[in-house]
Amino acid sequence: MEIKIFETEEALANYAADLFEETILRKPDCVLGLATGASPEPTYAELVRRYTQGRISFAQVTTFNLDEYCGLPRDDKNSYYSFMQAHLFSHIDIPADHIHIENGNAEDYEEEAKAYDAQILASGGIDLQLLGIGTNGHIGFNEPADAFTEHTFRIKLSDSTIAANSRYFTDSKIPEYALTMGVAGIMMAKKIVLIATGSKKAQAIKDTASGPISPRCPASVLRLHRDAVLLLDREAASLL
Ligand code: PGA
Repeated sequence: MEIKIFETEEALANYAADLFEETILRKPDCVLGLATGASPEPTYAELVRRYTQGRISFAQVTTFNLDEYCGLPRDDKNSYYSFMQAHLFSHIDIPADHIHIENGNAEDYEEEAKAYDAQILASGGIDLQLLGIGTNGHIGFNEPADAFTEHTFRIKLSDSTIAANSRYFTDSKIPEYALTMGVAGIMMAKKIVLIATGSKKAQAIKDTASGPISPRCPASVLRLHRDAVLLLDREAASLL
């Protein structure tokens, strides 16, 4: 696992956007795995800028998002569908039917999860997977557990995730459950890029980079991936 440390948020976002740009230019019909949260926002802004400048097109790109809350209406301002529309999809030329996000309002979550994994498989698999990391080391919504998770499934969010994400739910209650790609599913991506910024992520990054490879820190599994890179600012890297 490679680690890169950047002096500014802008430099980090530029580097991450370079990885996306290279992937799209090399393979215009590539499959991108996307993440939500504060960490990828500057990268999405940079990708929108590059699209607007005519440097890249998403016309043939397919995307799969990592996760979605259960029980939130799709158009709720806090759904990850809304996040992706606001930060990326509404600004670029990706066809609507190339976008995949788990349906957090599915009648049968198991069927939804199975269908989601089948779609990823049918697409040929994810070429470039973007990740954030929770303060508890989660990737997607794979919370610390006794065993690594496998494929897409419904998870009960941990107290620390609920505490961290409640900041967005100013006038409604944060859902307790989410659908998320599993760790084994994430590990199938050909390349993985994890972005972490700020001192709140420093311990999780230390555990990821040098703790035991353990489902107690799900991101630590990235050390077993042949092409994973952590993109950090100085604060997130401060305990390394
Ligand atoms: P953040 O979330 O980017 O908003 O810090 C990351 C995560 O919880 O995976």
